[in-house]
Amino acid sequence: MGLTGIFLILFLVVHVGLNACIFATIFNEDDHGQMFNKAAHFMGSNWVPRLLEIGLFVGIFLHIIQGLMLEFQNRGKRSVKYEVSFGNRGSKWYSRSMGLLGTILLIFFIIHWKQFWIPSRFTGVEETTIDGKQMHDLFSLMKETFAEPWVVIVYVLACISLAYHLLHGFQSAFRTIGVRNNRYLKLVNGLGVGFSIIVPLLFALMPVSMYFGWVN
Ligand code: HEM
Repeated sequence: MGLTGIFLILFLVVHVGLNACIFATIFNEDDHGQMFNKAAHFMGSNWVPRLLEIGLFVGIFLHIIQGLMLEFQNRGKRSVKYEVSFGNRGSKWYSRSMGLLGTILLIFFIIHWKQFWIPSRFTGVEETTIDGKQMHDLFSLMKETFAEPWVVIVYVLACISLAYHLLHGFQSAFRTIGVRNNRYLKLVNGLGVGFSIIVPLLFALMPVSMYFGWVN
């Protein structure tokens, strides 16, 4: 579970980095989403990311199966429930709610894939020409998608779930592979907290900035 988690963490780094190209429009008013469209086109037309995409879907599937197995194993370990609840003193609420947070993310995935990945790969996205090359205008698709307030709210809620899921998942994955030992404890914990705040915050800023027209 730690290894598939780290693989998904690496995917998030690439995904948030590529999507952050939409913010280029804030610094260059002539950009109009071209930097993002070009980066997305590179990822969609190059065989290496396409191959990794298959690995990504296998990784997500395995991560869910492993999570379910862990949840059932944990429940099966005690036939008698605890008499006293230690609340947040024994473990944090989000560590005990990884299944729930993961389920919220799975529901988000289904909405998210229907909005972006399925049009991009199967049903079609409007095209644009940049530097003489024809490519998907994913930037305009984003603007259209994030014009709906309910979509923005769903994305922000998903990003909050992602933040809590990562807050436990990041340090847990590194503990599993033996890196979160006494020597690196503070470093891994610090990196985990930083990553769990910055990445979901950047993701959440995308629908919010498009909705309010900060990115155009
Ligand atoms: C909140 C802002 C987000 C935006 C604007 C966004 C945008 C996109 C776009 C445009 C695509 C299609 C890429 C393509 O096919 O060329 C995509 C795919 C995908 N997104 Fe997101 N995404 C966001 C957040 C997330 C989050 C938080 C996750 C995971 C926790 C995620 C997971 C995925 C996955 C798994 C795919 C399909 C795999 C791929 O081909 O890249 N996305 N996203």
